[in-house]
Amino acid sequence: MILKVARLGNPVVRGVAREVAAQQIAEGDFQRLLDDMVETMHEYDGVGLAAPQVHVPLCVAVLEVIRHPRYPELAPIPLTFLVNPVVSAVDEHTVEDWEGCLSVPELRGLVPRHKAVRVSALGRRGERLDFIAVDFHARVIQHETDHLNGMVYLDRMKELRTLSYLLEWQRYALGEAPAAKAGTAAARRE
Ligand code: NI
Repeated sequence: MILKVARLGNPVVRGVAREVAAQQIAEGDFQRLLDDMVETMHEYDGVGLAAPQVHVPLCVAVLEVIRHPRYPELAPIPLTFLVNPVVSAVDEHTVEDWEGCLSVPELRGLVPRHKAVRVSALGRRGERLDFIAVDFHARVIQHETDHLNGMVYLDRMKELRTLSYLLEWQRYALGEAPAAKAGTAAARRE
């Protein structure tokens, strides 16, 4: 089922999500939530979605990047479920890149993120996950786990001068004719 996405201003976007009890993971309601989050992420061409964005204040996020033939620079990310994720910087070096968010529609901004992070979490079967993510993968994970703490990418921007509406961003930041590459921005919504 496609879920309604909460937008900035809805208090659920700013709330701190609750930890998921380990025994809850196998329950039907929780598994359905995960399926619905994936369906919702696909429907809106997102690369990640956190439960508070669909009005559920639980510490869980999903992410996936499917290789796009026109944007091969985006390395694919397999469908991943992060329950109760803990993220720490592998090094303090940060890189800036553009982000968007399904809860902050029609905008893009330059956001500094750690280039590499270590992620500990549980997967959708309750299995323990522990891995290092780099570059865009690390960016998506930092963006989604921020949502679990009531933060959006705007809070991470060094300054708001790069904040752009989608069409203007495509035209001026990317230097594209909007009609020619309408899918670019969709590939970056988190
Ligand atoms: Ni987001």
